[in-house]
Amino acid sequence: MSDEVWGLFDDDGLVGVGRKVTGDRRTVGEVDLAVRYLGLELPTPVVASASPINSDPRVWPELQAAGVGAVVLPSLFEEQLEEESRQADELFGLASDTNPEATAGYFPVLTAYNHGLQRYLDTITAAKRALQIPVIASLNGVTPGGWTGYARELADAGADAIELNVYRVAADPAFDAAAVEAETLAVVEAVVAACDVPVAVKLSPYWSALANFAVRLVEAGAAGLVMFNRFYQPDIDVEALRVGPRLVLSTSQELRLPLRWSALLHGRVDASIGLSTGVHEPDDVVKALAAGADVAMTTSALLHHGPAHAGVLVSGLRRWLADHGYDGASQLTGAMSQRAVTDPAAFERANYLEEITTAARSFRR
Ligand SMILES: Cc1cc2nc3c(=O)[nH]c(=O)nc-3n(C[C@H](O)[C@H](O)[C@H](O)COP(=O)(O)O)c2cc1C
Repeated sequence: MSDEVWGLFDDDGLVGVGRKVTGDRRTVGEVDLAVRYLGLELPTPVVASASPINSDPRVWPELQAAGVGAVVLPSLFEEQLEEESRQADELFGLASDTNPEATAGYFPVLTAYNHGLQRYLDTITAAKRALQIPVIASLNGVTPGGWTGYARELADAGADAIELNVYRVAADPAFDAAAVEAETLAVVEAVVAACDVPVAVKLSPYWSALANFAVRLVEAGAAGLVMFNRFYQPDIDVEALRVGPRLVLSTSQELRLPLRWSALLHGRVDASIGLSTGVHEPDDVVKALAAGADVAMTTSALLHHGPAHAGVLVSGLRRWLADHGYDGASQLTGAMSQRAVTDPAAFERANYLEEITTAARSFRR
């Protein structure tokens, strides 16, 4: 077997050629799909990314049978944890009150207190019992605070890793980029310090100097980067003149942004890369790995087609690897990363210039 160059994305004219393994075709049974992600052994690189269906015990056996490599639970939110912490303080305040009437306040407070965190911890424990694959808990928050300490409880409940979603809209003009980055790094450091399982940071694509920030996140202790979180932008109802959320699932078209950043950061950060957004078809998984992601994560496709669709992704990947002479999935990782391709500029500004000039030619009368 030898390495040679190839051009996976030539149809789109996206990049030049990259590294290809040339060997004889394999049978699908010969292909090893196992990968390492966040230091964990995953049986396949297809991961069910955070979404509400992943906390449904009826869905777990379906996901596992379909061959997903890991399951990410939906997030626990900073706001939720801060509120629970406030209620717990209130509860302790009441506990020292000897007035029997005060005890009447315990029960609703306690019920609310257990609803979020405790139920989440129970879900982790149940998922760990039901599944043989890693279970990743998710925390969603952006400001340093006591809530970050709850990461330890998630790990103690059995989570194999924690995914920290640092979703924020930097809408305050007084809060500059350096301050946003510093605050986010402080949150990452606090979560990493609070627990002894690996922590992945789920990012938005809107950081002004993402490559630099990615390196600093890893220095702050992140074992992995998940690119990217997908935003549900508010829409305006023009009849009711109301602003509200409108959930639209992704399509494969949205794969290109995380693909580009996986290709840019592969080999440049000492951390795992999870690609999230736009993974719908087996080819999307192939592209994700070739670009440099260690795992391809999917939510919209599973919501749209059902959890069993993960099996289509896994078997499609296996078939592609066998047909192209690969022994395993990890051999493909980064084969089309920026460092591997013959035209690295294609992942940067050059690609943009080429696309607009090509488009201008085709739209000319
Ligand atoms: C209904 C729904 C709920 C989601 N909930 C979470 C969540 O709790 N935490 C999180 O980090 N991401 C959440 N996500 C984002 C997904 O994990 C994923 O990053 C995003 O949908 C992009 O991937 P996709 O193109 O495969 O859908 C959610 C997505 C959807 C559609």
